[in-house]
Amino acid sequence: MAIASNPKKVDEVHQDLDRLYSETRTADQLMKGIVLLLNEQMLKYNWVGFYMLEPGANPPMLVLGHYRGPMTPHTRIPLNQGICGAAASSGKTVVVDDVTLDPRYLACSIETKSEIVVPVFVRGQVAGELDIDSHFLSAFGGEDRELVEYCAQLVGKRLEKA
Ligand code: SME
Repeated sequence: MAIASNPKKVDEVHQDLDRLYSETRTADQLMKGIVLLLNEQMLKYNWVGFYMLEPGANPPMLVLGHYRGPMTPHTRIPLNQGICGAAASSGKTVVVDDVTLDPRYLACSIETKSEIVVPVFVRGQVAGELDIDSHFLSAFGGEDRELVEYCAQLVGKRLEKA
């Protein structure tokens, strides 16, 4: 897929996501496609990745799955650590406008200024999450939150059918 020279309008990205959902068969293919699409089409989404709960792990552990962006040292995150742990343990979307002001933040890149983490639910239970970092302060407004929550819902729906 070519790198977009202009950001697509959010409704075009929604259409691309619906196409991706219908053209993929597995949750793995879908997650791989979502990280690629969001990283390429949404210019402020500088790191995009899924963390999924490790099956059977005690204590629970988030494990990095498909991602696009620089390598991160945080490939395994317990639920009591980071913005990622906060989103997974609360089952709520977490938006951080300025990561330097949030003591929970685990640094992945010195360029990251803001972050959104959205849980993925499977039959009402958190199964993982979609994490996005931006090099811009307050990059994630209402439209972004809706878009990222939509992505997480698609993955949850696909996992429910697995
Ligand atoms: N910042 C996250 C860690 C993951 S990296 O951003 C890729 C956190 O605070 O949980």
